[in-house]
Amino acid sequence: MKEKVEEILREIEAFTATTREQVEEYRVKWLSRKGKISLLFDEFKTVAPDLKKEMGQKLNELKNKAQAKLDELKQKFEQADVADEAHEPDLSLPAEPIALGTRHPISIVRRQITEIFGRIGFTVADGPEIEDDWHNFTALNFPENHPARDMQDTFFIDEQNKIALRTHTSSVQVRVMESTQPPIRMIFPGRVYRNEAISARAHCFFHQVEGLYVDEQVSFADLKQTLLYFAKEMFGEKSQIRLRPSYFPFTEPSAEMDISCSICEGKGCAVCKHSGWVEIMGCGMVDPAVLENCKIDPRKYTGFAFGMGIERIAQLKYRVNDLRLYSENDIRFLNQFKSAL
Ligand code: PHE
Repeated sequence: MKEKVEEILREIEAFTATTREQVEEYRVKWLSRKGKISLLFDEFKTVAPDLKKEMGQKLNELKNKAQAKLDELKQKFEQADVADEAHEPDLSLPAEPIALGTRHPISIVRRQITEIFGRIGFTVADGPEIEDDWHNFTALNFPENHPARDMQDTFFIDEQNKIALRTHTSSVQVRVMESTQPPIRMIFPGRVYRNEAISARAHCFFHQVEGLYVDEQVSFADLKQTLLYFAKEMFGEKSQIRLRPSYFPFTEPSAEMDISCSICEGKGCAVCKHSGWVEIMGCGMVDPAVLENCKIDPRKYTGFAFGMGIERIAQLKYRVNDLRLYSENDIRFLNQFKSAL
């Protein structure tokens, strides 16, 4: 019996398995109820009493070793299983969703504005964001000592040569009029910069859409009708507009345009400060001096111009009450525009 135990021990020690089936065979062969080690335990009854102690110990030792080996083999295959799962993709799984980007609300509103004016014959042009004094100020009739020309309001890139970040898209008016003779019917969307502290209501950059129409016999009535059409297309058929006299160096007469508050429909709310009206743009008839500066004959041609802030329109459309949200790129904000055009 001693020899048998030793033989089995050797066999067990030498055993290796390359498949799970071999591990199961090993278990059946040695450790199952009818396995060879169990049979040895049956034989133990016949061992002479003086050898019982020694044989008993040996048998238990054998059984423990066989069991330890089985555990070890099982573990090896379990680890292999985990590794397999990591390497082989499960092709039956549903595909990972692909996160689609969204259009920025400023882009959405810019496209809407462009589209609305496109329907009545306005084409799109743009100009540089870094401008010289002539296009941003002088040609637009800004007096020499106008506060907008001050460092406090304008970001200068080269102070000596008066090169600055444009403070409004009206600079594109000048560029277009200098290079094109009327009829001109265009809009100029773009980014503008002002030296202001960033808060919920002001930012150092924002976006404007400028409009310009120059031709023979363009009148203030044309301006009013164009802006009413825009308000209705943008904010709905019920929208009304109101023009208040104002001042810009480059338009004469000048006006500020309000629309009936689209949020409370004119009843009064925090956005319209309980007045029922919100200011959305500046406008007016192009000053003859500006036409002249751009080599367009003011005796033959007249024109109107307007300029609005895209953020302001977006605020009214989407009820965004903090300007900073537009440039922080917070995904929780941007994702809210998934369904917009
Ligand atoms: N450029 C003006 C502004 O930035 C807006 C404006 C444009 C006013 C065209 C009149 C005509 O405030």
